[in-house]
Amino acid sequence: MTPVIVRTRAELAAARTGVEGTLALVPTMGALHEGHRSLIRRAREIAGTVAVSVFVNPLQFGPNEDFDRYPRTFADDVEACAAEGVSIVFAPSVDVMYPAEPQVTLKSGPMGARVEGVTRPGHFDGMLTVVLKLLNLVRPDVAVFGEKDAQQLAMIRRMVADLNVPVEVVGAPTVREPDGLALSSRNRYLTETDRSTALALSRALRAGADAVPDGPSAVVKAARAVLDGAGPALHLDYIVLVDPATFLEVSDAHTGPAVLAVAARVGTTHLIDNTPLEFPKEH
Ligand code: PAF
Repeated sequence: MTPVIVRTRAELAAARTGVEGTLALVPTMGALHEGHRSLIRRAREIAGTVAVSVFVNPLQFGPNEDFDRYPRTFADDVEACAAEGVSIVFAPSVDVMYPAEPQVTLKSGPMGARVEGVTRPGHFDGMLTVVLKLLNLVRPDVAVFGEKDAQQLAMIRRMVADLNVPVEVVGAPTVREPDGLALSSRNRYLTETDRSTALALSRALRAGADAVPDGPSAVVKAARAVLDGAGPALHLDYIVLVDPATFLEVSDAHTGPAVLAVAARVGTTHLIDNTPLEFPKEH
């Protein structure tokens, strides 16, 4: 199926009017990889029609971040969407999304200042603002996001609950290379040497997961040991064990679900990864 490509609000409104039954939106910044394709497949399981948005959102990049060099591969993205049975590709320009300097934007609050928010101040404000705008424009029944961006997903769930946004948010699991590297559009920036350094992230998460029977502190300690062993080419931003809904760090007495989240800079590339964990009642 060839998706209809819409670039303006009017074209989107016309395409939306033609949708019968349920619509799922997969918001992306393009540079689609197998991880995005798995989100699209999840969306297709849920809804009769799938729309994908492709928009590199300037509002969620800091002044020294990679907005300008973020990979833009639109022709390949459309091909991937076609292969996955996407009906609508919404690819607005910056002017369509932000026709004037926005005066009213979302604040991600205390949760947006935690963990990844410390490394990327303002990122979650810009991300939530564009996600709400996309939801308002596309009006999907369901929106599918990757669990790879666990804090992003938690913040979107919180926004939807706090602002009564009429959409169901669905998370889909992280897709990894056979050697464990989580798929990310930013992996394209990695040299071969960077890539092998970056494997420490997923190795650290696995070491942390193996230490679950010994409790939360042991998990963080085991993960940190792997990252410390990765050498100076890996600059660790954080390794934290947090509550999946609030992203507050959990105590050593914690039982139930948690997320072990890591971020590091390898070369000039900011990488994040995480794994969901479950702490049994007795540990
Ligand atoms: O995860 C992403 O690609 C982006 O943060 C999103 C959700 C498309 C908003 O720009």
